[in-house]
Amino acid sequence: MPTRLPLAAVLLLLLLGAAAPTPARGGRVATELLAPGFTASYLLFIDTYGAFLASRSGAFHAVVYNPGQQQERFYLAVLHAPSKTCVWVANRAAPITDRAAALQLTASGISAEDPNGTTIWSTPPFGEPVAALRLDDHGNLSLLDARNATLWQSFDRPTDSLLSSQRLPAGAFLASAASGSDFSEGAYRLNVTAADAVLTWMGSMYWRLSNDASSTVERSGTVAYMAVNGTGLYLLAADGGVVIRVSLPAAELRVVRLGYDGKLQIQSFASANSSKSPMDGGFVAPSDACALPLSCGALGLCTPKGCTCPPLFAASHDAGCTPSDGSTPLSVSSCGGGGNNSSPVSYLSLGSGVAYFANKLAPPTVSGGNVSSCQALCTSNCSCRGYFYDDSSLSCYLVKHELGSFMNADSTKGSDKLGYIKGVA
Ligand SMILES: *[C@@H]1O[C@H](CO)[C@@H](O)[C@H](O)[C@H]1NC(C)=O
Ligand SMILES: *[C@@H]1O[C@H](CO)[C@@H](O)[C@H](O)[C@H]1NC(C)=O
Ligand SMILES: *[C@@H]1O[C@H](CO)[C@@H](O)[C@H](O)[C@H]1NC(C)=O
Ligand SMILES: *[C@@H]1O[C@H](CO)[C@@H](O)[C@H](O)[C@H]1NC(C)=O
Ligand SMILES: *[C@@H]1O[C@H](CO)[C@@H](O)[C@H](O)[C@H]1NC(C)=O
Ligand SMILES: *[C@@H]1O[C@H](CO)[C@@H](O)[C@H](O)[C@H]1NC(C)=O
Ligand SMILES: *[C@@H]1O[C@H](CO)[C@@H](O)[C@H](O)[C@H]1NC(C)=O
Ligand SMILES: *[C@@H]1O[C@H](CO)[C@@H](O)[C@H](O)[C@H]1NC(C)=O
Ligand SMILES: *[C@@H]1O[C@H](CO)[C@@H](O)[C@H](O)[C@H]1NC(C)=O
Repeated sequence: MPTRLPLAAVLLLLLLGAAAPTPARGGRVATELLAPGFTASYLLFIDTYGAFLASRSGAFHAVVYNPGQQQERFYLAVLHAPSKTCVWVANRAAPITDRAAALQLTASGISAEDPNGTTIWSTPPFGEPVAALRLDDHGNLSLLDARNATLWQSFDRPTDSLLSSQRLPAGAFLASAASGSDFSEGAYRLNVTAADAVLTWMGSMYWRLSNDASSTVERSGTVAYMAVNGTGLYLLAADGGVVIRVSLPAAELRVVRLGYDGKLQIQSFASANSSKSPMDGGFVAPSDACALPLSCGALGLCTPKGCTCPPLFAASHDAGCTPSDGSTPLSVSSCGGGGNNSSPVSYLSLGSGVAYFANKLAPPTVSGGNVSSCQALCTSNCSCRGYFYDDSSLSCYLVKHELGSFMNADSTKGSDKLGYIKGVA
């Protein structure tokens, strides 16, 4: 454990830092506060795998982080230290590309540089000079002015995770990472809306909290924010009243995290400075892995026994499936661009018992028409990828976004939607 500096020394450091930046000193992990005039790089802090600032209890570290130990992308990140869980990233769209390149803390904020000294990322300009960078025991990384007022904080800029004592306001969202080692924005979103929390992929909804078996709707009302704490996950009204809750076994610290595979998971820690989790299965949404948009790749069919292809489709070289007849499913990129919509389209049946995740939570595009009018609607719209028609309710569902995976239809519901994928011969 690093030794704690007495308060007077901290204040002195703050003053010195603000007045005359001290040269970089590598290696030693500071506790809670850092004064301007500080430089970090992965190389300078290689002994601590990039960690340069610890919260008072040691539960959280600010790190020049290279997920997956690759050497091309380094991020200013906050990690839950005992579990090595990354809970926040500053420069997800602009990683530092060299382990020797500098992250600077100055009176104007934090900035990251390219090896050749070009600034690739920085905090916004502030009216007041920065007096300190602080990492608290909740995992909130903040820039403070000389009166300790918060100029900027990581809790206001969530990436793919939400921590206990952090709030995700209605209208805000978590965006998944592209992969386990590339933290640029991926395709999945968790949005908090005025009524619910929803997971979407390419504009298609695949889960919503109010529909989850583990959730309880406490009262109607407008959602102001989402929060997680020792007893559960909550959507709360502006007055703090619970609108929707998911009760969870007691734990001191929780991390809600939207994975790069689209899964929303809650990690629980018995205490903030341990990696020990309480003995429970944990929360995962959607609970059915086949309800993930790309559970079996594009056009793949997810079944309880694993991935397969719909009857008239065969495994393609990339994870999913492709029509066996050699036709090409239209992709979103082949649409638009002011081109001719004259190439004749054909439809390939998915056969019976094949359902699509996006139809479970969205209302039909049109009701009351017949199957040919449903198909005509899809043919006339370039961005339509295919359609599902339910004969019993005369419901027409157009697939308006990129196509994901299919799943077995829930036979108990007596639904007989038939799906057709648009293609060009
Ligand atoms: C800095 O280096 C990067 C590659 O490391 C290069 O892409 C970029 O163009 C360089 N910028 C300048 C201003 O030289
Ligand atoms: C974040 O941290 C700053 C400084 O530690 C603190 O003033 C602020 O209240 C924290 N914000 C939240 C939402 O906890
Ligand atoms: C600023 O915060 C530090 C650490 O929490 C505290 O010790 C100090 O007294 C505060 N300074 C002012 C001017 O409030
Ligand atoms: C979720 O948020 C993103 C970013 O603001 C937005 O583009 C998208 O439309 C939102 N989706 C929903 C379902 O609210
Ligand atoms: C968690 O938040 C809910 C809703 O605000 C509250 O009722 C509950 O007491 C909180 N639990 C803890 C352990 O703070
Ligand atoms: C964890 O924190 C508690 C107090 O919150 C402390 O007693 C304990 O020593 C800490 N454990 C470690 C491993 O730092
Ligand atoms: C549209 O079709 C016409 C006639 O078939 C052809 O001459 C023209 O090049 C096409 N335009 C585009 C953008 O494909
Ligand atoms: C489908 O409905 C359209 C009008 O919406 C009608 O013209 C057409 O004849 C119907 N087709 C069948 C097969 O019933
Ligand atoms: C095609 O479908 C998209 C997505 O639903 C919609 O936004 C657009 O207005 C439709 N275009 C036409 C011409 O109907």
